[in-house]
Amino acid sequence: MTTKSYTYSTFGQDVVKRIGNTPLVELKAYSKKNVKMFAKLEWFNPFGSVKDRAAYWMIKDAEKRQILKKDKSIIIEPTSGNTGIALTGIATAMGYKVEIVIPEKVSIETKKILRDLGATLHETSDDLCPRVGSGTDQSIALAKAISKPRPDIYYMPNQYENDANFYAHYESTGPEIWNQTNGTVTHFLTGCGTGGTITGTGVFLKEKNKYIKVIAVQAQKNHLLQGLRNFEESAMPELFERRKDVVDEWFTATNVDSFNMVRDIYEKEKMLVGPSSGSVLTAMINKRDEIEKGNVVGIFADDGRKFKSLYSQQEVFSNQEYEEALLSGKYLSEISF
Ligand SMILES: Cc1ncc(COP(=O)(O)O)c(C=O)c1O
Repeated sequence: MTTKSYTYSTFGQDVVKRIGNTPLVELKAYSKKNVKMFAKLEWFNPFGSVKDRAAYWMIKDAEKRQILKKDKSIIIEPTSGNTGIALTGIATAMGYKVEIVIPEKVSIETKKILRDLGATLHETSDDLCPRVGSGTDQSIALAKAISKPRPDIYYMPNQYENDANFYAHYESTGPEIWNQTNGTVTHFLTGCGTGGTITGTGVFLKEKNKYIKVIAVQAQKNHLLQGLRNFEESAMPELFERRKDVVDEWFTATNVDSFNMVRDIYEKEKMLVGPSSGSVLTAMINKRDEIEKGNVVGIFADDGRKFKSLYSQQEVFSNQEYEEALLSGKYLSEISF
């Protein structure tokens, strides 16, 4: 793996060609003799997370349906971060403007990246994940209020309902995992926000082999795990509802276990991961210890580079340890914002 670094603008419009085909690496420190553990490193997408896939598919779909007009349309979306970064980066490269409605609790690093990439931000006092359902969600309500009166200019992809979010994973993440494991994957785990990753990848993998187990990782209530959701606290998005039967098992990750695992994987594998990868690894270890043999694949949705302030607040790393991790970590992505 190379260590050169680039900024997204190096590639202009071609940046979208770098979406997908992320590495699948074995987590040797966590594998056992007959149970191998693999992480799909989604921060190798050009804008740093699994959400590049959904964002690109939603924009392509809107272009196909002739909803977007170059240099005129504004894409507006309520999001807690990664979708906003992906949409802003990809839409800007493709010639559209972006406005993001974002909960104020989202990390300052994330907001800075969004502004640097060119998004206009509207902040609300929502929880970390915009809640879906009536009356509870300011981000979604505000995005709708801004966009509804100007349908000629604004387009809201709405990742919570847009099937292109499902197809992104059905057509890319699922086939990649199948090919990268030569069809030997036995368990698939991912954290859930909109449900796009779990339903798209899960449906594809089960079509290939109906015995593959699909395990959904949700956050505890009142959580600090950006990108994840707790489905008691917040209703299941429509997109997830449509295909929720693909889930065989649920795992609820706590803040404490997830942050401890972020530290553990840095100590054991020298990987600086985002909080939700800590949640997914906790669930993977739990599954590893239940089964006799198998190939367990988890989605590591983003890396730790947006979480300096959170990791310092939660005492996961001191600032000095964090800076060292940025310099000497393994599998850091090549892009710098
Ligand atoms: C940071 C982050 N964003 C997004 C997702 C997946 O989101 P979705 O269910 O919307 O596909 C995950 C899942 O692990 C995540 O950790």
